[in-house]
Amino acid sequence: MERLDKIISSQGKYSRSEVKKLVRAGLVLLNGEKVKSADVKADADRDTISVNGEVISYKKHIYIMLNKPQGVVSATDDPVHKTVIDLVPPSLFRQGLFPAGRLDGDTTGFVLITDDGDFAHRILSPKNHIMKTYHATLDHTLTDEDIKAFTEGIELRDGTLCLEAQVKMLSEEPPVAEVRIHEGKYHQVKRMFAALGNKVIALKRVQMGGLELDGRLKEGECRELTPDELKAVTG
Ligand code: URA
Repeated sequence: MERLDKIISSQGKYSRSEVKKLVRAGLVLLNGEKVKSADVKADADRDTISVNGEVISYKKHIYIMLNKPQGVVSATDDPVHKTVIDLVPPSLFRQGLFPAGRLDGDTTGFVLITDDGDFAHRILSPKNHIMKTYHATLDHTLTDEDIKAFTEGIELRDGTLCLEAQVKMLSEEPPVAEVRIHEGKYHQVKRMFAALGNKVIALKRVQMGGLELDGRLKEGECRELTPDELKAVTG
């Protein structure tokens, strides 16, 4: 059981003080009965709560897929740049959202935004090896030796060893490779190609775990994941 104003405000649409006002105006119902005070206790999973004529479909957490554009930073706030959180529309916004994993400012594609710290920890923990798939536009195509180096585990220029990864060329003109990695070191994909004397010109994340970026999402757009899609991330 939790305070009603806390339950309602956790869903993002109304602040705690707005809920209090709505209660005073008689616009908050708990199981069909007008609520007299915002601090009554309710069971978010069982009770029917309605605000202003609208039944709240309570969700403990929210999981959002964003197609990140270039120039937007994977942070919750930034003094200069737009953040991925700034791109979440009011209908999906709630307090406590953060990106589960980072993309560089100039990398585009799939960022998962959530308010579920345990889930984020699970998908980011190196021991879970959640696969991430990227499309990298390169300076030049890969040789057979380059591809072999990826499958054996690349040694970065600073001596860091990467886990085995998969790579294949998707096109030659321009040279675009698909890379699948099971870890998330700082600037990892760019540094892997740099270790082979190549350069990443553009980078896009297209998949996390078993879930592909929705091709219908334009850059800057996001949408909520379905429960099945969420399961696909962790496989
Ligand atoms: N690897 C990189 O180099 N940059 C990213 O943004 C993600 C993976």
